[in-house]
Amino acid sequence: MGSSKIKLSIVTENRGKGLEALKILESCGVEAEILTMKKQEIQSDSLEEIALYSARIAYLNIKKPLVVDDSGLFIDSLNGFPGPYSSYVYKKIGVQGILKLMERIEDRRACFKTALAAIIPPLEKVYVGETCGVIADKPRGDMGFGFDPIFIPEGSTRTYAEMSIEEKNRYSHRSKAYQLLLGDLKRLYPHMWRHP
Ligand code: IMP
Repeated sequence: MGSSKIKLSIVTENRGKGLEALKILESCGVEAEILTMKKQEIQSDSLEEIALYSARIAYLNIKKPLVVDDSGLFIDSLNGFPGPYSSYVYKKIGVQGILKLMERIEDRRACFKTALAAIIPPLEKVYVGETCGVIADKPRGDMGFGFDPIFIPEGSTRTYAEMSIEEKNRYSHRSKAYQLLLGDLKRLYPHMWRHP
């Protein structure tokens, strides 16, 4: 891949996700851009499979080094629902629908999981990050996106939606997946790093 720097495309149709990823990559000196593109998804119980499929299709289209993430909220007392179906469930019943399903349920434990598929030839790999916490009793905060207003990560008393992007990135499932990718990039592609 020559010795020039690589620019990594963050392929997503979700601006919130894109901004979080951009902050993580740029704060580590990796040049990146958000590429707004509809994700081609397969139906599967595995976030890893969904993310890898989407990344391969995106790569066929843009032929540039890229990452695609697929994430889900897994609620213990609902046997991991909505999990890989989080996007569909969010569109259909939203935050209020999840709170309704959780009414009178005492066990509020849940985990957010991200499968981050990276295609930076010859590297093709899926990185998984997970953050556990609890589902709040009611929505709080107006930052972020998706289920952010009802998820309180372990170690905090605030929901993701009450946090700035930088603060959410200190806790988030997405950020953990990116840290694993960054570890590999440092090792495999030292020329990707902008040196001060
Ligand atoms: P997908 O990864 O775009 O398929 O996201 C699945 C669903 O989970 C969408 O409804 C997102 O809004 C939601 N989601 C994904 N990541 C997050 C997050 O970091 N915070 C809150 N909701 C999220």
